[in-house]
Amino acid sequence: MARAQEAGSQWFRLPWGAVQPVSESRDKGGRPPSATSPDDPTAASVGVGPHPKPWPDDPRLDPDLMAEGDRRNVIDRYRYWRLDAIVADLDSRRHPLHVAIQNWEHDFNIGSIVRTANAFNVATVHILGRRRWNRRGAMVTDRYLHVEHHANVAAFFSALADAGVVPIGVDNLPGSVPLETTELPQHCCLVFGSEGPGLTDEVVDGCAGLVSITQYGSTRSLNAGAAAAIAMYHWARRWGDAGRG
Ligand SMILES: C[S@@+](CC[C@H](N)C(=O)[O-])C[C@H]1O[C@@H](n2cnc3c(N)ncnc32)[C@H](O)[C@@H]1O
Repeated sequence: MARAQEAGSQWFRLPWGAVQPVSESRDKGGRPPSATSPDDPTAASVGVGPHPKPWPDDPRLDPDLMAEGDRRNVIDRYRYWRLDAIVADLDSRRHPLHVAIQNWEHDFNIGSIVRTANAFNVATVHILGRRRWNRRGAMVTDRYLHVEHHANVAAFFSALADAGVVPIGVDNLPGSVPLETTELPQHCCLVFGSEGPGLTDEVVDGCAGLVSITQYGSTRSLNAGAAAAIAMYHWARRWGDAGRG
């Protein structure tokens, strides 16, 4: 992608010929995003300040947030909304996609998978194995999700069967088929393994299918967080908002 300088400000030239000003990501004084900029989701302070008065008469809005400002990492539509109101709204349009993660080693990827699962508005995240999971990377997105713990693999598969959800293992193991050319079931649970061991044999045996993301380099595998994001995106391309049709 070529980058051009025009009229004293920088522009990105997009591959299809359009240009986009870099200044869109700058503050009003033309300064680049700082550690407290809303452009930086990891910044200590993001979001909006106190709501101007008079306040709207809307039961979904939280008076404390309107008074203090809303610094949470939520989309603009949910600014000043109470947590339970956001969850209720998300519940009204959850996708029938589930995600499961084997938690044998307090894997740092789990937080990242949970955050992506929130972004794709999945029905439920299932944690298999240890109850305590590594929340770093989740950015408290789990508060808006339904997270279920299963102490053992049998309990997990039984819960999926009761809900009519098809378990699909995601790992680059022998017998897997390429994700790219596979249509995933609409009501499915994508199951990911831990860093290191990957999916255990017991989980692979219980899954209805096993898919892998084709790789082209020398590394044995992607990290589980990256693999999960790709797999959820693949599901959403087919079934997001029920295929948008
Ligand atoms: C570090 S990998 C596990 C080990 C891997 N099976 C190996 O042979 O080294 C951790 C998890 O990331 C996911 N993963 C990584 N690369 C993948 C790929 N190319 N296709 C599908 N899943 C992948 C899987 O869920 C896997 O269990």
